[in-house]
Amino acid sequence: MLVLGIETSCDETAVAVVEDGRKCLSSKIFSQIFKHKEWGGVIPEVASRMHLETINRLIGETLKEANLTIQDIDRIAVTQGPGLIGSLMIGFNVGKILSWLHHKPLIPINHLYGHICANFLETELEAPFVCMLASGGHTQIIAMHDYTNMQIMGETVDDAAGEAFDKVARLMNLPYPGGPHLDKLAQSVAANDANKYKFPIPRVNDFNFSFSGLKTAVLRLKEKIGTEIWEQDKALIAHAFQECVARTLLDKVILASEQVNLKSIVLAGGVAANSAIRARFKEYFCAEKDYSLIIPSLKFCTDNAAMIASAGYFQAEYGSRSQANVYQQDVFARA
Ligand code: KG4
Ligand code: ZN
Repeated sequence: MLVLGIETSCDETAVAVVEDGRKCLSSKIFSQIFKHKEWGGVIPEVASRMHLETINRLIGETLKEANLTIQDIDRIAVTQGPGLIGSLMIGFNVGKILSWLHHKPLIPINHLYGHICANFLETELEAPFVCMLASGGHTQIIAMHDYTNMQIMGETVDDAAGEAFDKVARLMNLPYPGGPHLDKLAQSVAANDANKYKFPIPRVNDFNFSFSGLKTAVLRLKEKIGTEIWEQDKALIAHAFQECVARTLLDKVILASEQVNLKSIVLAGGVAANSAIRARFKEYFCAEKDYSLIIPSLKFCTDNAAMIASAGYFQAEYGSRSQANVYQQDVFARA
């Protein structure tokens, strides 16, 4: 089954073709970051206009690269939410028009389900597994009992992990989006300096998270140590912050995987690109013999359309057999 995926939920216009949910034939992304950088965050109106200007050209280029025409495509998968409404409407309407014109079934996809499915693109991963999903807007632990049968075990009670990264990066005057810049700064710290600062792990019940207290702790530290030391120790503080986030996510995933007795762990979402998170998860789960760990390559952690096309395949193949794709139900409930 050849699925054309379309993703326009935020500031990336993305189109891809994926075969049978796992083989990416072509994936193109036009990032708007260079534009939104000027304002330090996404301007929704600008984002929608840029999607509109880009989407048709990108669909043509993606099909060409895969050596296909729209007639060869079996289904069209398009992100329906969550995201910026104006941006979503551009991609969704283009998907709908293609579907009508060419008589191809349209599969609306929840963006978060797409992030999880990114893990099928480079591996032979099979359900069941536990997924730690951390993006700019969401932080969740999901037990994937089947390809479309899932249970959200825990989530953030306030800020998402990516949001915390971006806000702390802003305190450090790093460019938008802050996460990758903070990560780079933290990696410049020498091993023997690494423990000068330490933030406490936020304590929250069950498998839930909280990152707003941690963000405030960084702000208080900035006020306490003053501008000069703050500037001098910024990399050390970035390092302490991301180690704290990594330990917080890891501790909860260990507990959650024990609870559901699943030893297959996957990471997903833009924050899964973080070097400390990848390192701590590898350190723990690769050392524990009976666990398996899958982390998408960097290009499939952040937003892309191959993950949406993959999700389209799994939704089409397994969705009708299961009523438990909570993401899809959520989407339809709001549609
Ligand atoms: O999944 P994603 O591309 O978009 C959403 O669905 O939100 O995630 C974007 C988030 C942003 O907050 C960005 O700062 C963060 O992922 N991010 C990172 C890294 N790369 C991207 N955060 C920490 N370290 C990184 N290397
Ligand atoms: Zn995303």
